[in-house]
Amino acid sequence: MFGCAKSRHYTCTDTDGLYHNAGYPIGVAINPDLLYTDSQCHRIASQQFNSFTAENIFKPFYLHPEPNAYYWEEADKLADYCVTNHKRLHGHTLIWHEQLPEWILSFSGSTSEWEQMFKNHIQTIVAHFRGKVAGWDVVNEAFDRDGTLRNSIWRRKLGDGYIERAFRYAHEADPNALLFYNDFDLESNPAKRRAVLTLLNNIRLRGAVIDGIGLQMHVNIYSPGSGEIVKAIEEVAKAGYKVHISELDISINPRGRPIDKTAALFQLQAELMTKIVVNYKQLPSRLQYGITIWGISDKDSWIPYYFNREDFPLLYDSNYIPKPVYCAIKSLL
Ligand code: G3I
Repeated sequence: MFGCAKSRHYTCTDTDGLYHNAGYPIGVAINPDLLYTDSQCHRIASQQFNSFTAENIFKPFYLHPEPNAYYWEEADKLADYCVTNHKRLHGHTLIWHEQLPEWILSFSGSTSEWEQMFKNHIQTIVAHFRGKVAGWDVVNEAFDRDGTLRNSIWRRKLGDGYIERAFRYAHEADPNALLFYNDFDLESNPAKRRAVLTLLNNIRLRGAVIDGIGLQMHVNIYSPGSGEIVKAIEEVAKAGYKVHISELDISINPRGRPIDKTAALFQLQAELMTKIVVNYKQLPSRLQYGITIWGISDKDSWIPYYFNREDFPLLYDSNYIPKPVYCAIKSLL
């Protein structure tokens, strides 16, 4: 057990919400199965956060399972929940190389049929949620680590210009939605960050709308250092993009070794969180789209499952007890 009460430096309770005193949205990735069935998860999601991102159910695999059939039921239920409960809904994600349905992976149309399918996919989804989704991750993870464009199925079939056209199509379908480019390692990899900024700046110069950049921020207690994170936040803001820290979690076991859950590790986690939030707070409010945590409790994080390792990257432990990292955020808001 490592609740806040055990920490000398970070003690707090979670009886009032994280978002109440923040001047910007504090969000969380939502797994609807848990939201509706797990009362603790529901309590925390609704009390602590005022912005929801669906962890999976807005991805093409779930929303667009057949060429001419969209599966709206689950996503609509979440959108309605957000309207009723005054949560901002962030749409994640329209164009990604992962979690694609089989029919897209095997789509055998001509270049113009690919373009039509791509445009319809974006515009049907964006139009469906007009007025309910505040912002979209229009394109997700389009770059490789070395700063070149990822050779995804979208790029192979549609050419390098697909990113710009995705933003144009999304804007046509909902001119009021904020449009984001979202990627990982932008906080740790300056070459990738520079390449993303160069491409997005050029797209903007040609008149397309890109409102912000999602820095996913899947970081760990050893890397990147807080200096690099600060630099990334500053560079994105300086270029005039809204900054969404879009998928924040802080691993304490990146090497996947057997670990002792010592207070010192959770202290390091809390300290890194403090540095991230302190720097985010310094942004002008027009550039603060918010900070979104990628899940509620350690037991439901994608990290142990995906990397097959023990880890504790989120704000709450597996018994929904707030950890020092929770208290670190709270003390700053
Ligand atoms: O829904 C199926 C279920 O029917 C099946 O029985 C089960 C067994 O494999 O899989 C379930 O799907 C899983 C899905 O999560 C829902 O739980 C997939 O296997 C699993 O791969 C998928 O993982 C998601 C991952 O994206 C996919 O790449 C994670 O939950 C989600 O947190 C993660 O999120 C991504 C962001 O979208 C983009 N940035 C990186 C981030 C972390 O990878």
